[in-house]
Amino acid sequence: MSALDGKVALVTGGASGIGLATARLLRSEGARLVIVDLDEEAGRAAAAELDGRFVRFDVAEPDRWGEAVRAIEAELGGLDIAHLNAGVATGTAVLREVGEATYRRVMRANVDGVFFGAQAVAPAMARRGGGAIVATASIAGLIAYEPDPLYAMTKHAVVGLVRSLAPQLARESVHINAVCPGMVDTPLVGEEARALMAAAAFPFIDPADVARVVLECVLGEETGQALVVQVGLGGVAYRFSGVPGPRGERAGSKPPAGLAGS
Ligand SMILES: NC(=O)c1ccc[n+]([C@@H]2O[C@H](COP(=O)([O-])OP(=O)(O)OC[C@H]3O[C@@H](n4cnc5c(N)ncnc54)[C@H](O)[C@@H]3O)[C@@H](O)[C@H]2O)c1
Repeated sequence: MSALDGKVALVTGGASGIGLATARLLRSEGARLVIVDLDEEAGRAAAAELDGRFVRFDVAEPDRWGEAVRAIEAELGGLDIAHLNAGVATGTAVLREVGEATYRRVMRANVDGVFFGAQAVAPAMARRGGGAIVATASIAGLIAYEPDPLYAMTKHAVVGLVRSLAPQLARESVHINAVCPGMVDTPLVGEEARALMAAAAFPFIDPADVARVVLECVLGEETGQALVVQVGLGGVAYRFSGVPGPRGERAGSKPPAGLAGS
């Protein structure tokens, strides 16, 4: 008996890199896989390898999310796990070089995809009695990241969303966490960054190491965490602290209970 026998898992960006590594690991633990990606050829190949399904859609499209989740519930009986992982880099650090089309492309994949994904999958998991959502943020969601400020903005958004959604989803036994890797050896890393990494003898993280942290999130009970993944570190929960409160205390960032629907 494997840890995820009988579970149904959806992985966005599952055709490549971190998503493909996660899909492989979840499959090896017994889960049935649904791969979501824009890349039809690689997505179909991944699904064939993993004896799973492939659905091609843009994760920024809420209607497509609705269709996909309805089909999964009808055909596979429900959804237990979602790795909201699809994402793109901007390709430039220079503010004036980011045209509107580039801005929208990055926001759609990295922010809309996680928001509409969570909005679609959480109710399906609640209907199943609970589940696990893991979003791929980045170390760039925790630090200032000069090589790609737009990317950093989107990944900060993912971390903020995950932490802010965790309490309400916990009430339906759905937990949600973010993985925040450093530089991972995938096609997302452009040639320039690759050359800089090589010149500095800076080690890449293996996508399989990120996948292991995703699996730990899925199997664990923690929620609302941002887990830093670095070479040789595994997943380390980042500790947020020290935000000044209205009375000068430094622990609280929480509004009073009941405010804004909390
Ligand atoms: N590679 C790194 O160094 C690194 C570090 C930290 C975080 N991340 C994050 O990890 C995630 C996965 O990236 P990766 O490094 O494996 O890159 P990757 O390019 O190998 O995989 C990303 C996949 O997402 C798909 N995708 C992109 N936009 C999509 C959309 N709108 N709808 C559906 N599918 C879409 C792509 O087709 C691709 O298959 C991303 O969110 C990325 O920001 C990567």
